[in-house]
Amino acid sequence: MIPAPQLSDIAAAAGTPCYVYDAAAIRASYAALDAAFDGYPHAIHYALKANSSLAIVKLLQSLGSHADANSLGEVDVAMRCGYRPDQIVFTGVGKSAAEIDRAVHLGLLAINVESPGELDRIDQRAIAQDARARVALRVNPDIDARSHPHISTGLKANKFGVPISEAPALFREMAARKGLQPVGAHVHIGSQITTLDPLTKAAEAVVALARDLRSEGVELQHLDMGGGLGISYDGGPVVDPAEYVRALVAATKGSGLKIAIEPGRVLVGPAGVLLTHVVDVKQFAGSKRFVVLDAGMTELMRPALYSAYHRIEPLLRRDGDESPADLVGPICESTDAYARDRMFPPVEVGDLVIVRDVGAYGAVMGHTYLRRPLPPEILSDGSEWRVIRRRQTLDELLALESE
Ligand SMILES: Cc1ncc(COP(=O)(O)O)c(C=O)c1O
Repeated sequence: MIPAPQLSDIAAAAGTPCYVYDAAAIRASYAALDAAFDGYPHAIHYALKANSSLAIVKLLQSLGSHADANSLGEVDVAMRCGYRPDQIVFTGVGKSAAEIDRAVHLGLLAINVESPGELDRIDQRAIAQDARARVALRVNPDIDARSHPHISTGLKANKFGVPISEAPALFREMAARKGLQPVGAHVHIGSQITTLDPLTKAAEAVVALARDLRSEGVELQHLDMGGGLGISYDGGPVVDPAEYVRALVAATKGSGLKIAIEPGRVLVGPAGVLLTHVVDVKQFAGSKRFVVLDAGMTELMRPALYSAYHRIEPLLRRDGDESPADLVGPICESTDAYARDRMFPPVEVGDLVIVRDVGAYGAVMGHTYLRRPLPPEILSDGSEWRVIRRRQTLDELLALESE
């Protein structure tokens, strides 16, 4: 946890809104996951989609992780941060021809195939390059992750992967294609999953598939169990990462196959805070209190996008009782609120407020609506801190345009 005086110094130097990440927290989360494998063959592919700022990715690379990319941009970021192509898995529900060409050319560890049509396209494009693309099939096990519907991906109704019942035939097909080398099976049933059961069931389904394939002579190299581990945004119970890993190992070890996982949120989410200043407080007779912050849905989309809950607190607590307040941003949209009717201490204009657990799906989803430049990001490491992305200027924001 970054101490309040350091946060206050950072806000003074970098301005608000700004993101601050705690390097020690990221190291600790990674170490806990890694250690829980207890020597079982595995690779932790950090899901760059959670936070792909170069310094964060580089930090995770330096810890020994591998990478999970969801776009060519993320593949390139991963390589700039030192990952070798054979440490990168590439997932994406609609890969373009250019993306497939580049992924094949780079020789990534696995392109996670999402459909029979894509299987065909990868095969064709690999043959055209005289290459054999390493592929894993993303299966959809029709398991309810019991997460928010917008971040559930493992149900038949979701657009991701192929029904697991179709997988054996598709693996046979892949094994027969000249341009493809099937190396793995992939499953990812959603994000912010807070119970172990769906994750274990998904793993068991993939292990059973691998066993059936083996009996048919299709030998895989790894099982990619995806990401999805939830974090406690509100203090409620979540799955212990070590327990999750032990469950994966227990499900898989009979097969002897290497386990890949693609965690994002659990590695970086709790390590980030968003610092923001109170710019207005208003309350009229018979109406509620509004605390207006200088950060809004442009900096942190999650509340507007998923009604996500974040702990929010003043950096320094003033005397006085808590009372209900809407904690809102400055954007001209009614959905631009971080919290509604939240019990909140008294605050005054100019007070610093911290929004917690924003290290994942925070800055990466930031946008420039209302011509608001992207905020800076800071990495704190013990008593030191440094700017890892400076605040965008308006000129930079407009640089792509002409009148
Ligand atoms: C394919 C894939 N892998 C990994 C992740 C990372 O998930 P999480 O951040 O929940 O661990 C995601 C995010 O939804 C994803 O789509």
